[in-house]
Amino acid sequence: MRAGEVSWEAVTESVLAWDSPVGQSPFRYPTQDTEIGGALIRAGEPVMMSYAALGRDPAHHGPLAASFVAARDTRHLSFGHGPHFCVGAPLARLEAHIALPAFFNRFDTELAVPAKEVEPFPSLALNGIRALPAVIRPRAGAAAGV
Ligand code: HEM
Repeated sequence: MRAGEVSWEAVTESVLAWDSPVGQSPFRYPTQDTEIGGALIRAGEPVMMSYAALGRDPAHHGPLAASFVAARDTRHLSFGHGPHFCVGAPLARLEAHIALPAFFNRFDTELAVPAKEVEPFPSLALNGIRALPAVIRPRAGAAAGV
């Protein structure tokens, strides 16, 4: 990214596709019996959809679906779909496009613990971590202001 080979916009979408911040939808309740993929969902039964699943579906993303690739097929449901599509999506994207280069152009950073020790935040809906211990150093030659 620093070398300009992959844009921050592409990275933002790749991260959203690979690791959806909102993993599951809130419960939805079909108003009529519905069949999807051979499964009957009766009217009124609670349905929880996985936004995260599409971003890692090998049928859509091929054999690398579960791997992080900086510029990948970015079809994802991380901001939902339909009438309740996230109204904050343009703001969230803008924040990422500004904050990520501002941070990574100014600092070098690495995990302070082995990746397998980074603890997930236990939640049915949200996909996050409890803490991200990191070592952050100013980059040589980076401008002081952001
Ligand atoms: C990376 C950041 C974000 C992610 C991943 C995200 C994800 C989502 C998702 C998946 C939904 C759909 C929920 C559903 O299907 O019911 C949603 C809805 C919503 N989001 Fe976001 N969101 C983000 C940032 C924001 C921001 C920055 C705002 C406001 C400034 C915001 C405001 C909303 C609102 C108001 C809704 C409800 C829309 C509706 O029900 O019509 N979101 N978001």
